[in-house]
Amino acid sequence: MELNEAITERRAVREYTEENVNEETIRRVIEAAVHAPSAVNQQPWTFTVVRDQSVLDRISRDAKSHMLATMPASTHSDHFRSLLDDPDFHIFYHAPVLILISAIAESPWAIEDCALAAENLMLAACAAGLGTCWIGFAQSFLNTPDGKNMLGLPAAWVSVAPIIVGHPKAVPPPVPRKKPEVRWIG
Ligand SMILES: Cc1cc2nc3c(=O)[nH]c(=O)nc-3n(C[C@H](O)[C@H](O)[C@H](O)COP(=O)(O)O)c2cc1C
Repeated sequence: MELNEAITERRAVREYTEENVNEETIRRVIEAAVHAPSAVNQQPWTFTVVRDQSVLDRISRDAKSHMLATMPASTHSDHFRSLLDDPDFHIFYHAPVLILISAIAESPWAIEDCALAAENLMLAACAAGLGTCWIGFAQSFLNTPDGKNMLGLPAAWVSVAPIIVGHPKAVPPPVPRKKPEVRWIG
């Protein structure tokens, strides 16, 4: 797949088949992730691969409660609140794999570095015919002591990018993009 095709065709996938993603493919998308640039080449990331569905179920359940208890009021909060209140809503959409990218080094740019790694990972997965979705709903909970305990993450690590990966059951249509606002100076 051409790079531009992966960039434009990648979608946030929220429906997955039950088919597992093999270990070699998981390693390949992580390899793509670590080719991302990072400030001072610190590569301050680590990857936690979660395939145990009972762990993902528990994180989904607790992250929903955590979000409901801590979510600030915002324009989206009514929609989010009803979603998070729905016992049938699974924040990971029953995807077979979660790859959590965490920042493990103290660097002022560790978050940016991990986000760049996440985009590489999502594009590589798309090129491999897989779907992905960044699950922001999990982030805050995974940074609590309880969340870290569930995955055995050291207290100093910062969870940045929880990315689900799987075989898409359905690929959603493209989401409209705003026209880029570009200012030219010179
Ligand atoms: C930081 C971040 C957090 C996100 N959190 C969620 C989430 O919790 N649940 C979800 O279904 N999608 C989540 N998404 C996916 C976005 O909704 C999606 O990328 C956006 O609507 C654009 O659609 P596209 O990725 O198909 O182009 C998140 C994306 C980003 C970048």
